[in-house]
Amino acid sequence: MTSENPITDPYGRPIQYLRLSVTDRCNLRCHYCMPAGGIDYVKRSMLLSYEEMYRLVNLLSEHGVGKLRITGGEPFVRKDLMKFLASISGLKNLKKISITSNGVFLGEYLPGLKDLGINSINLSLDSLDRKRFNEITRRDDFEKVMDTFHALIDLDFMVKINMVVMEGVNEHEINPMAELAMRYPISVRFIEEMPFNGGSGRQPTLRWNHVKIKESLHQHFGKLVPVASEKDSTAERFRAEDMPGDLGIIAAYSRTFCGTCNRIRIGATGGFRTCLYGPEVLNFRDFMRSGHSDDALIEAFKKVIEKRARNGLQAEKLAKEKSTSMSILGG
Ligand code: GTP
Ligand code: 5AD
Ligand code: SF4
Repeated sequence: MTSENPITDPYGRPIQYLRLSVTDRCNLRCHYCMPAGGIDYVKRSMLLSYEEMYRLVNLLSEHGVGKLRITGGEPFVRKDLMKFLASISGLKNLKKISITSNGVFLGEYLPGLKDLGINSINLSLDSLDRKRFNEITRRDDFEKVMDTFHALIDLDFMVKINMVVMEGVNEHEINPMAELAMRYPISVRFIEEMPFNGGSGRQPTLRWNHVKIKESLHQHFGKLVPVASEKDSTAERFRAEDMPGDLGIIAAYSRTFCGTCNRIRIGATGGFRTCLYGPEVLNFRDFMRSGHSDDALIEAFKKVIEKRARNGLQAEKLAKEKSTSMSILGG
């Protein structure tokens, strides 16, 4: 089977996009993701090893997964990530590898990533104001992230900025952030806050939903022309007149894009989710460590895909744990 012939779920959606979290650790402590003291990190032996990840990615790429996104936590806090990326970059059925990163440690790896053919990076950036950045992330790394941002532009990476919109924190930065797409050929994306904060105590108000974000951008830029996105895109995209980049709105909480969702997720400890909002339906680490063959693995995979929920609202009803962090879910 190839990426042209993927496994489909009960609603006819092809499973083609894997999000793989390589670590639950992060060097930042963003309020919307975890409490000040961090989450309880798991022991190293509980994490998938790179060999196990390679086996999974290779196998799934032979069964229709053509797109891979590396997430975390922060992927670059895991040692030897580049070696792992080099190993999977040669897989012939894997058409695209991209990475979501907070950018603090990313800078030094950019030339190496280019050499591997990885040229698409989603950069988390919730504020252009150093003080506010520090408050949101509880760390003093604004300059490093901005240096990485400029290096990404200079090296011609395809860049998407992810800004989580939080009422009373950074909503007044929507327009200044959007202006980056006027200056650079990048996508600037505004994300509805989701309640996956690892018990940080934050209560997302969700007043800044996708509709309100769009209104704000309309008011600022006037006419916004829709930009065609890939069918599986989370973002609804627009462009203002003379804009070299574009703007995207991700209704991560409202979940307007489930109809075309082709995503699956493997967390850092091997937890497999067929929906971001759903429960762990299989643990690949335990499955592999108990000696199962590749065939058995694919059979188990197909079985859980057969039970995939129709959308994130249905999936949420099946999930028991409510205080999970995105660093565990894998973004
Ligand atoms: P592209 O592959 O570039 O479209 O990126 P992406 O939007 O899939 O990935 P990214 O890691 O940049 O995530 C951006 C935001 O979208 C984050 O807040 C994610 O948690 C959210 N997101 C990604 N996938 C899903 C999903 O399947 N469902 C929901 N509700 N949100 C998602
Ligand atoms: N709500 C919305 N987005 C979140 N992210 C992390 N936690 C949340 C949350 N609670 C975003 C990060 C990153 C992406 C993978 O997920 O900002 O860009
Ligand atoms: Fe897919 Fe679930 Fe996200 Fe909807 S909420 S887009 S079904 S992962």
